[in-house]
Amino acid sequence: PIAKNLFGLADLEEKIRQAYGLRKVVIVPGDSEVSALSKRELGRAGAKALLSVMGNEDIIAVTGGSTLAAVAEQLTQPSSAHVKRTWFVPARGGLGESMEFQANTIASTMAKSVGAQYRLLHLPDLLSEDAYQSLVQDVNIQEIVQIIRQSRIIVHGIGDAMEMTRRRKLDSATVEAIRTDGAIAESFGYYFNDEGAMVHKMMILGLRLEDIKKTEIVIGIAGGKSKARAIHAVLKFGQEDILVTDEAAALEIEREM
Ligand code: G3H
Repeated sequence: PIAKNLFGLADLEEKIRQAYGLRKVVIVPGDSEVSALSKRELGRAGAKALLSVMGNEDIIAVTGGSTLAAVAEQLTQPSSAHVKRTWFVPARGGLGESMEFQANTIASTMAKSVGAQYRLLHLPDLLSEDAYQSLVQDVNIQEIVQIIRQSRIIVHGIGDAMEMTRRRKLDSATVEAIRTDGAIAESFGYYFNDEGAMVHKMMILGLRLEDIKKTEIVIGIAGGKSKARAIHAVLKFGQEDILVTDEAAALEIEREM
């Protein structure tokens, strides 16, 4: 039964890969939203996907979230690759996550696990226009933002738009604006509609859409039945190369395709 199950998932991986024109799709069994074991497997598969593309002198930008934290937990030192000159950086400034789920924490954990370097971006969660304008002038911030924008690899989570507005405790006017704009998904601090068009962005520094578009390898890692529409929306955005997801999300994505 296990082999049969794996066989079924392999078919689904191929179907999703072709439907969205991806380089690779990995599906782990179960629903990571309800099973801690499945979430760990999602993290392990995400770590494996990252290790398969990571080289020396790479810049790797990572987002925050519980899924990326699970990836960081499962990342181990590659036996062959030399990654001493590889840098891990957060994709964007703070985004109102708790400490363990912040991109800064995840970047430093990953770097330490594989013996690479890291740089952090210490910014408040949400910037006012004034604060943004003065921070972009800061030389130290400019330097790290320049590094982030040269990333060769991005590893990111995907969230349901409304769920993320709650987690980030956005004010009700902003939440309403995001809802009216038709946002379905949130990723890298951007909100996307069902067609994969960016409809709202947070005032934070880091990766811009144009940077994501020219990044060589974009790895999205997200699972859980309730995230299927959000994953579909981000896949429609069209920049993903590798998708790591779970069975529950994949079965729903199949319906969205
Ligand atoms: O932007 C998306 C979120 O960071 C995903 O967070 O992995 O905890 O669901 P999560």
